[in-house]
Amino acid sequence: MDSNRGQWSSKVGFILAAAGSAIGLGNIWRFPYIVGENGGGAFVLIYIIMVVFIGLPYMLAELALGRSVQRNPVGSIEAIKPKSAWKGVGYLGVLTGVGILSFYGVIAGWTVGYIYKMLAGRPGGFAGFIADPIPVLILFAFFIFLTALIVNGGISGGIERWSKILIPLLFILMLGLIIYANTLKGSGKGLIFYLNPDLSKITGKTILAALGQAFFSLSLGMGLMITYGSYVSKQENIMTSAFYISLFDTLIAFIAGLIIFPALFANGLNPSAGAKLVFVVLPDLFAKMPGGALVGSVFFLLLSVAALTSTISLLEVPVAYMVDEKKQPRKKIVWVVALVTYIIGIPSALSQGANHFFTDFGWLPSRLASADFLSEMSFLFGDFSLVVGAFLLSIFVGWVWGAEKAADELALGSANFNRFRKVWIFMIRFFIPAVIFIILLNLFGIFG
Ligand code: TRP
Repeated sequence: MDSNRGQWSSKVGFILAAAGSAIGLGNIWRFPYIVGENGGGAFVLIYIIMVVFIGLPYMLAELALGRSVQRNPVGSIEAIKPKSAWKGVGYLGVLTGVGILSFYGVIAGWTVGYIYKMLAGRPGGFAGFIADPIPVLILFAFFIFLTALIVNGGISGGIERWSKILIPLLFILMLGLIIYANTLKGSGKGLIFYLNPDLSKITGKTILAALGQAFFSLSLGMGLMITYGSYVSKQENIMTSAFYISLFDTLIAFIAGLIIFPALFANGLNPSAGAKLVFVVLPDLFAKMPGGALVGSVFFLLLSVAALTSTISLLEVPVAYMVDEKKQPRKKIVWVVALVTYIIGIPSALSQGANHFFTDFGWLPSRLASADFLSEMSFLFGDFSLVVGAFLLSIFVGWVWGAEKAADELALGSANFNRFRKVWIFMIRFFIPAVIFIILLNLFGIFG
């Protein structure tokens, strides 16, 4: 093992850091509004199916590849298939990391703004807040700065230490909020919307949305799990780790829905309000609650932390690439990548009303994404690129590297894996690429 690259200090440390990457705005901000837009319970059902049958087995492939060759996504592919076009998949991952971080950091900045807004009492309108360029740009800068500061600290000292303390805290606070939200009058209708699947609402678009959301939420499809897997020691059980990461991630998303939908229906709001959902529903919930200003503020603080453990991972992928492949010193390259990402993110920050051009950008067909620049980036990098990346990487692991070799890697440290070996090999070679391919065809059908 190359001791200069760093390694997780313990199994728990790795699971929490990877769960920290997975758990973020994707669970608490994105999941509920996508559920709301896609008709509620039916989407939740499809989502869970996607996590279990696609997300989790696919995650094993990324982790196995990363631990086997101990590189970033580009270097891992290069180590297995030197000088081939497959390297492009690695570059796509590095680019996607920057792409996601550029809009994710903007939303994380809003979250930080709400820590203060909740404490200050009247939170005021959300639309006005995100349309105001100066505070939004400053909060975005602040968030990217914090992210870079922690990534600068390296693997176990920076990323791991923070995740260990703060993710469990978020979990506990959310458990308390479930109870509160479900005692509100009229909240029962929210639970029905959320948990009672109306199967007639399932369409091709719902299924793509569920798959894209599963990859986004589990941090898959851009080589993040290759990168984090590269810091895992050979004694560790990747299979159980991946199981816990997926479980925690899905639990937090599920819990977010158990808070948001009851609260939303109790207030008579519309579940398909889109990306603003959480920022409108939750402040309303806190406003009614005794001590709500403080609870609300703490909630947005912990949500910011959850976002931070995700942005750290997003920045880590391009940084690991520059450190491994371009021999750049970590302490310098972190700041360069952060600055570039910030600049790429400025149009997203200005696309919520501050600037007409970016607000009505509309380069993509309107059925795929809203016209604002942020939503278009979110579709391109937060859905499309992850799905394409996962398709290519599953073929790479299943056929180019070889599912047998990947399975041998997974069996290291995990005696139980051999019970699932045959099924897993079938999934990574046939089932996962086939399902993704069909869903993509359907998407291009929409294009045509
Ligand atoms: N999973 C994170 C969330 O749900 C976002 C994220 C972090 C991510 N790292 C990633 C998404 C890597 C895809 C790939 O908020």
